[in-house]
Amino acid sequence: MRSSCVLLTALVALAAYYIYIPLPSSVSDPWKLMLLDATFRSAQQVSNLIHYLGLSHHLLALNFIIVSFGKKSAWSSAQVKVTDTDFDGVEVRVFEGPPKPEEPLKRSVVYIHGGGWALASAKIRYYDELCTAMAEELNAVIVSIEYRLVPTVYFPAQIHDVVRATKYFLQPEVLHKYSVDPGRIGISGDSAGGNLAAALGQQFNQDDNLKNKLRVQALIYPVLQALDFNTPSYQQNMNTPILPRYVMVKYWVDYFKGNYDFVQAMIVNNHTSLDVEEAAALRARLNWTSLLPASITKNYKPVVQTTGNARIVQEIPQLLDARSAPLIAEQEVLRHLPKTYILTCEHDVLRDDGIMYAKRLESAARSKVTTDQA
Ligand SMILES: *[C@@H]1O[C@H](CO)[C@@H](O)[C@H](O)[C@H]1NC(C)=O
Ligand SMILES: *[C@@H]1O[C@H](CO)[C@@H](O)[C@H](O)[C@H]1NC(C)=O
Repeated sequence: MRSSCVLLTALVALAAYYIYIPLPSSVSDPWKLMLLDATFRSAQQVSNLIHYLGLSHHLLALNFIIVSFGKKSAWSSAQVKVTDTDFDGVEVRVFEGPPKPEEPLKRSVVYIHGGGWALASAKIRYYDELCTAMAEELNAVIVSIEYRLVPTVYFPAQIHDVVRATKYFLQPEVLHKYSVDPGRIGISGDSAGGNLAAALGQQFNQDDNLKNKLRVQALIYPVLQALDFNTPSYQQNMNTPILPRYVMVKYWVDYFKGNYDFVQAMIVNNHTSLDVEEAAALRARLNWTSLLPASITKNYKPVVQTTGNARIVQEIPQLLDARSAPLIAEQEVLRHLPKTYILTCEHDVLRDDGIMYAKRLESAARSKVTTDQA
């Protein structure tokens, strides 16, 4: 009896130790977040074990767990019609809002789910419900893209998938089939999906046939750069669940099929140190001391290494590619982008990526006004 009591106490203490994480007082539902984080961490640990045993890639195992727990098959409600189909070979789930006689042509949003380019699915409950709600409340057609993930494919295949599906959808006969108003189409995505949406927005903007086809982009806590992992938000939230800094850096390395040995060096910005020439020209485009307001920079100091590790960008040149890091695009590319909505969150390493992008878009738009007047 006594020993089982001791055992129980030990187990409770161990569980509490595993689950409890100190959180800022402004986090609402701290226990919900802790439980979600503990669940996600244990799923990651099980996946790492599976990987270690040579049974499967850890990201495949992790995604299997995520998708099996959250899968929702396409269903038809009285309100929203849901169809799984493919657009030019890319799987999509289409949500059609209820027909409205007074508004025969619908708006449309192309939606790209998040998950570090490696996880989740348009078919899990979370995204299914989000897109259903959007279709219903906006009286819209939502195209949620089931793009291929790491480790089946790597950068830039994810971008190719979302570009291909979106191009297919924008054809007049396809828009007609879904009763979509060609003048009221937007793109949106969250996290890594926000990254892909931003990349898609830039790519369409540079293509004369596709320019102006998208009226709005809504980027939800987008991932926008991999050059500075010491922005104020990265420093402030380096240990914040669900996305501590090292996890985000690993997603980046996975996206490029890079080497995990670089992760620790990238965390201290050794990949963009002053002696790494390839990064020099880009540094000004994400100079947060000038792009972020004082209310955000507070007392945080930039982390700029004099000497670092030049091998990282030589082995992973994709780190410096604006298709992976839309924040570092040239001003010219940012100039004519569609109207942009960006949502960022305080307790998130990605917060400042979004704020810096908003600032760069504003400056680009202002420079357009100046040029147009000249
Ligand atoms: C960063 O680079 C410097 C210079 O090469 C090296 O001394 C240091 O150990 C590196 N830091 C990490 C975490 O790799
Ligand atoms: C970043 O901006 C600050 C303030 O405007 C400036 O002093 C600094 O030289 C800039 N750094 C780079 C690398 O552009």
